[in-house]
Amino acid sequence: MAAASRARVAHLLRQLQRAACKCPAHSHTYSQAPGFSSSEKTTDYAFEMAVSNIRYGAGVTKEVGMDLQNMGAKNVCLMTDKNLSQLPPVQVVMDSLVKNGINFKVYEDVRVEPTDTSFKDAIEFARKGSFDAYVAVGGGSTIDTCKAANLYASSPHSEFLDYVNAPIGKGKPVSEPLKPLIAVPTTSGTGSETTGVAIFDYECLKVKTGIASRAIKPTLGLIDPLHTLHMPSQVVANSGFDVLCHALESYTALPYHMRSPCPSNPITRPAYQGSNPISDIWAVHALRIVAKYLKRAVRNPDDLEARSNMHLASTFAGIGFGNAGVHLCHGMSYPISGLVKTYKAKDYNVDHPLVPHGLSVVLTSPAVFTFTAQMFPERHLETAEILGADIRTAKIQDAGPVLADALRKFLFDLNVDDGLAAIGYSKADIPALVKGTLPQERVTKLAPRPQSEEDLSALFEASMKLY
Ligand SMILES: NC(=O)c1ccc[n+]([C@@H]2O[C@H](COP(=O)([O-])OP(=O)(O)OC[C@H]3O[C@@H](n4cnc5c(N)ncnc54)[C@H](O)[C@@H]3O)[C@@H](O)[C@H]2O)c1
Ligand SMILES: [Zn+2]
Repeated sequence: MAAASRARVAHLLRQLQRAACKCPAHSHTYSQAPGFSSSEKTTDYAFEMAVSNIRYGAGVTKEVGMDLQNMGAKNVCLMTDKNLSQLPPVQVVMDSLVKNGINFKVYEDVRVEPTDTSFKDAIEFARKGSFDAYVAVGGGSTIDTCKAANLYASSPHSEFLDYVNAPIGKGKPVSEPLKPLIAVPTTSGTGSETTGVAIFDYECLKVKTGIASRAIKPTLGLIDPLHTLHMPSQVVANSGFDVLCHALESYTALPYHMRSPCPSNPITRPAYQGSNPISDIWAVHALRIVAKYLKRAVRNPDDLEARSNMHLASTFAGIGFGNAGVHLCHGMSYPISGLVKTYKAKDYNVDHPLVPHGLSVVLTSPAVFTFTAQMFPERHLETAEILGADIRTAKIQDAGPVLADALRKFLFDLNVDDGLAAIGYSKADIPALVKGTLPQERVTKLAPRPQSEEDLSALFEASMKLY
């Protein structure tokens, strides 16, 4: 291409980028600095959608044995947690494996809210078993553990921290091929069946971190709403809050073309890339379902319509945030879970204190969105309206408080604990909570508004009490 022609294309690209999003929230900050040609960019110019294959239907789990047979699997690892191992979702999977003549071993020691120790235990099981396929039946804890087991068993010489997100781990890109993994989610929350993310609590730092790579996403997600009928109501509520925050955070995240650096090779483009036009669709749709069905799903265990819709919403939001990412509610949630003292969550059949993931993210949401709204106020107002706020007379500069009020009302209606104080934290814990948030740059840098340590302290303080 002649130089003049290249300059013309670069000029047109810049114009296109400026014109791409006309909403006021975007247009004033989105364009590249003048003088940058597309090859000199420091911010990214592309995004990629990576999604597992998904199959949805009431009773679809019974097909899993045939799927494994179709894949030619001869030696399968079935992962779950102890509670679920006694419940119908696991039984249905086992029946299907037996019926289709699939040889399998069960690992039922998944820890609810996994740790590096529990991940390593599952990895050891996987390495010893030389499995040629995996099935994870459970919530995010099980699916994430299975992803890690598959990854490290497929890469036997790697050290645990090799693939863990930087700066805690080395954040190496995954180049080895993994074995097929079929995920059968039993909660309606994490969307882990669609994402290349596996989260664990890194015990020596008392913070959650994870592994994030498109390579670890499941091969197939079997979304079977019948499993949701077994969920206790607090598991429905907390996993539903996770969907709520996935949708809100991915929709308000820094746009992909404002994220730095621009990768020099596509293998290093992160799984969490920033908001983008495709993720936006999934996030908004998921939020509408949450607004319509979450309360019904929590209150009535027999409401199959509401529980089925929440099961789908979890997948919808997963497709969105799995590519766009999440930001401050999640970044701040990791020390909230990691530093848990004695809080025991109702309806969780476990023997250790735990702040369920969805609860740990939603408790800071009113403070977080009050803080972030000045960057993309239209998006904040739009989501407040979806959640039931009357925004006809709302001013754009009030977008943050309007969304925060809508969230508080939503949480109050579902009897959610009154802020961090109600789950055992006090002002004295704020420095530790801030310290635990600082290494979560992978997500906190996706917040639309940069935050200082003082900002984080103020956000934790504002989240001590909600109502
Ligand atoms: N990979 C991702 O993209 C991603 C995203 C968000 C959260 N997470 C992680 O996922 C984990 C949380 O997962 P979760 O909220 O899905 O719950 P979970 O897997 O931790 O399970 C919570 C409890 O509910 C029980 N349970 C699950 N399904 C049930 C059912 N159908 N009937 C009866 N009991 C049932 C489990 O046995 C467990 O006791 C956290 O570690 C979180 O950090 C991962
Ligand atoms: Zn989450």
